[in-house]
This record gives sequence, C-alpha cells and structure tokens, in this order.
Amino acid sequence: LAEGPLTGRRIIVTSGPTHEPIDPVRYIANRSSGAQGTAIARALSMLGAEVVFVTGPADEPRPEGAHVVEVETAKEMKDAVDAALPADAAIFAAAVADWHVDGASDSKIKKQDGKIPSLSFAENPDILASVSQSGKERPALVVGFAAETDDVIENATRKRVRKGCDWIVANDVSPETGIMGGRENAVVLISDAGAEHWPRMEKDAVARQLAERIAAALENN
Ligand code: C5P
Repeated sequence: LAEGPLTGRRIIVTSGPTHEPIDPVRYIANRSSGAQGTAIARALSMLGAEVVFVTGPADEPRPEGAHVVEVETAKEMKDAVDAALPADAAIFAAAVADWHVDGASDSKIKKQDGKIPSLSFAENPDILASVSQSGKERPALVVGFAAETDDVIENATRKRVRKGCDWIVANDVSPETGIMGGRENAVVLISDAGAEHWPRMEKDAVARQLAERIAAALENN
C-alpha cells in the first residue's frame, strides 16, 4: 500500500451499474461504465487509503490495491456497503438502479403465442441516503454523484440536501457531452460552500483532484 495523506483511512467507493434481474437470463441495467468510480478508488489508494471498492458488473480493470467486492443488484450493493462500515469516508459513484423488478421469476419466462409479459417495479434502497442519515456509523465525509441532463446545479444542490450527504459531484451526462462511456468529465463540486466548477479533464485527473480534496477534508478529523 502507498504511504500518503490518507494512510490509516478507510474509504468505501461504490461504482458501476447495477443489474436488476427479470428472470435468470434477463436483466435491466444502465450505461454506467464504472470508469470514474474506478479512477477514484485508484487515486484514493495512491494517497494511502484502505479502499473497499463495491462494484456492479463493469468491464473496467479492477483498481489495484483496493479490496474489491463484486455485486449485481442494488440490494446486494447496500448489503456490501453496510458490511464495510464503519469508514472515514464513503464515495457513491455507482449508478444504482432506482427500481428492481417486483417478483422477478426464478425460471426463464417463456415466449408464449400472443402473450406479451409486463413487468412491475418496486423501489430500491437508496444507499447514499441511508448512509448519509445513519447515526453513529456515519462516515465523517459522504460524497454523492449526480448525473443530470437538465438544470445540473439546481438539481444537484437539491439532491445534496435531500440525501443528507456532504458533497455532490455533479455532471452533465447529456449525450452530446460524450461523458458517459467517455474518457473525460466536467464536474461541479457542490458543498455547503456552494458550487465549484472544475474544468473539463480526464476522469483520472478528476479522480486525483477529488482524492486530494477528500484528504484535505479528513485532515482535521
Ligand atoms: O437519486 P440519484 O440516483 O440521482 O442520486 C445519485 C447518487 O445517489 C449517486 O451518488 C448514487 O450512487 C446514489 N444512489 C444510491 N442508491 C440508490 C440511488 C442512488 O446510493 N438507490
């Protein structure tokens, strides 16, 4: 493990999409690549942190130096995060599905003449909100992400208050930005001090800058 300003700190990072099963062979997912979350885990390890990396199914190479926990569903991600607490900080970069299929089938749904199945959904646990609002075990620093396509700052500012986290890293994921699945990111860091616009840069550079900010925030803790 590298030595640095985060040596002795334990940090949880969630990353990637979740897969919510319809039946044993089908699932609902989203377009998260896990690139930004993986880069953050790597940057935190490089500053000396003990990182628990909880990831949904993603093709990214696993961050070296981190303790990797692979999960599939939002429910499994929540259980893995809860099991990893307590921690000094928790960074929620995963694109968690908002819903799972209610009553997913244990056997493959067969194609039947003239019959089209319909799915009903039930809400998933909000991992960020539950950790932010947990009492005794709340990490000193809780960071959420907000991927928006409209009114980025307004929505993210409201999200910070609603979830109860300390910071929101907001970004515009409109298709024309090329951010989702791309190498670069342009983020706005939202804290109780307001909104700080970072220039567009590689996801690795966003991760390094964020890791440094996290180290500075934990310094007096
Ligand atoms: O509400 P929304 O999904 O836009 O919030 C995004 C933030 O909340 C991200 O940090 C994401 O990782 C986290 N989140 C979560 N559990 C959910 C939904 C979102 O941890 N069920």
